[in-house]
Amino acid sequence: MKAYHVNGHAGAGRLVRVDVRKPEPGNGEVRIRVEAASLNYRDLIILDRAGQDGLDGRIPLSDGAGVVDAVGPDVVQWQVGDRVAASFFRDWVSGPFKAQYVASALGGSTMDGMLAEHVVLPVTAVVAVPEHLTSIEAATLPCAAVTAWHGLVTRGGMGQGDTLLVQGTGGVALFGLQFATALGARAIVISSSDEKLARAKALGAAILINYRTTPDWDVALMTATDGQGASHILELGGPGTYDRSMRSVASGGKIVQIGVLTGFGPKPDLARLQWENADIIGVTVGSVDHFTAMNRFLIDHAIHPIVDRVFGFDEAPEAFAHLRSGSHFGKIVVKL
Ligand SMILES: NC(=O)c1ccc[n+]([C@@H]2O[C@H](COP(=O)([O-])OP(=O)(O)OC[C@H]3O[C@@H](n4cnc5c(N)ncnc54)[C@H](OP(=O)(O)O)[C@@H]3O)[C@@H](O)[C@H]2O)c1
Repeated sequence: MKAYHVNGHAGAGRLVRVDVRKPEPGNGEVRIRVEAASLNYRDLIILDRAGQDGLDGRIPLSDGAGVVDAVGPDVVQWQVGDRVAASFFRDWVSGPFKAQYVASALGGSTMDGMLAEHVVLPVTAVVAVPEHLTSIEAATLPCAAVTAWHGLVTRGGMGQGDTLLVQGTGGVALFGLQFATALGARAIVISSSDEKLARAKALGAAILINYRTTPDWDVALMTATDGQGASHILELGGPGTYDRSMRSVASGGKIVQIGVLTGFGPKPDLARLQWENADIIGVTVGSVDHFTAMNRFLIDHAIHPIVDRVFGFDEAPEAFAHLRSGSHFGKIVVKL
């Protein structure tokens, strides 16, 4: 079968096309014929670390969806023909997070990912694709959508009357915006681009701030919310955004700590957290149970992921370059 491997010696693209043996499912496993795989910011970090940490020779991308085309001898949970998506952490099925799950993240240094024609996974590591979604749409869900869902809804309890701030118009941000709109929460979007802000408005965003032309976006946010601030914040930037997030959080609000778009290791001034009785919620994607609950919500609200662009399998390096450009609005997908 055809696949890509991460390879630190493969020039600027750091990906090589390979032909490898099609995997066979054993007991307790299914094989997926992958129809689409999608990219996340994390996949750029992984490519940038190619040549280190055992990444070379790994199949990249955590996110993908397709059709079960073979099952192990004892498998009764899934049948050939079922439409499924992979869960980000192979081993985080339900219950609270455990540190040991980190090594089971697909498309990282210890586990192959989804940029291959066929992938074998345990029966417990896949979820049914909602009927109203294509495989291209379903491939966008495992990392970005589950992260936004787990942080904002499962842990954050976002609902009607809340106000959500999302940073930028990438994958996690737009899923957050769509969940807020469906739940009756008011959404604030900050973006580098007026054109992207107009598109966010069409998706239901109520307050739009260009962080390039309004670098003090926290001040603008406070003015636009009559001094109330945001009850929920998807903190995607890290060191470059954290202090402004801290100044934007409403009394009793929740900052969902997720992102590293401006680097790792934010050192925010935590004083306001105390005076506003606010919380920080740390999130690493989510479990199969989170994914399944989110899919019910997607079905109930007929939500379709926002797909920016679909690339062919041969164009996978271009898909990564497009993600790196930051010009996208929503998700980037590779079709197999
Ligand atoms: N903790 C977790 O489990 C988890 C899970 C998923 C993602 N993440 C992290 O969350 C972040 C977002 O991931 P993603 O895959 O959604 O990324 P993405 O699709 O690549 O989003 C990139 C977008 O973020 C916006 N952005 C960049 N710098 C910004 C800044 N300084 N202020 C505000 N917005 C900025 C830009 O939007 P505009 O062009 O509109 O300005 C850019 O297009 C990443 O850091 C990723 O590593 C963490």
